Amino acid sequence: MNHSKSIVVKISGKWINPDKPEIIGGYARVLKKLHEEGYRIAVVVGGGRVAREYITAGRKLGLSEAMLDLMGIAATRLNAMLFTVILDDLAYQGVPRSLDEFMEAWSTGKIVICGGFQPGQSTNAVSALIAEAIGAKLLVNATTVQGLYDKDPNKHPDAKLIKEASVEETYRILIGEQHYAAGGYELMDPLSLMIIKRGKITVKIVYGGNPENVYKAVKGENPGTTIKPE
Ligand code: UTP
Repeated sequence: MNHSKSIVVKISGKWINPDKPEIIGGYARVLKKLHEEGYRIAVVVGGGRVAREYITAGRKLGLSEAMLDLMGIAATRLNAMLFTVILDDLAYQGVPRSLDEFMEAWSTGKIVICGGFQPGQSTNAVSALIAEAIGAKLLVNATTVQGLYDKDPNKHPDAKLIKEASVEETYRILIGEQHYAAGGYELMDPLSLMIIKRGKITVKIVYGGNPENVYKAVKGENPGTTIKPE
């Protein structure tokens, strides 16, 4: 198999929301184009607003973090199902629930779309694990910000966009003193950084509000930040 044409695209759940059908349509077009150009594509979608709403309600009701994670995962799978159905024949018609199930689906040669796998991690970790498993050397992370910043751009208006970073720099910026909880895993969580390092996977973080950024990233451009594994 030509692994250089295998890619993983992680799309923030914010963009695969039922209230943004035009963006979902835009992603469907970009993935179709890449598929026609011979790329093999795995897609991982996040939970977005639906996940956050259930997690917030469940936390107020005293549910454990593991149960909240499970509800988040259910939301990611609902988003994955929406996307799967829209892609019709191009996509494997099912949402794999584990890496084993993903590999079975991948063997069909179709685009495979999944959400979360298990509590204690984010869909970024899922996308890194899949990239490692299929031998993909590129993971495009279509997120809610323009790329990696030197500090949290939502809290610091003077935060600066970084065009290129190592995994170590990314770790220093993102991991720091954070406390991980359901619905609160950051841009890249520790597990995803560990996997991209050992799997030698390049990550391109792009602004996901414009699906064309994913196309540009696959075609060698750097519309946001490139994280180099070494
Ligand atoms: P994400 O936080 O990964 O998706 O999953 P998101 O909401 O789209 O976030 P961004 O924008 O991509 O970063 C939603 C929640 O589902 C649970 C976590 O609680 C997570 O916050 N989850 C997801 C898991 O517990 N395990 C998984 O493998 C994936």
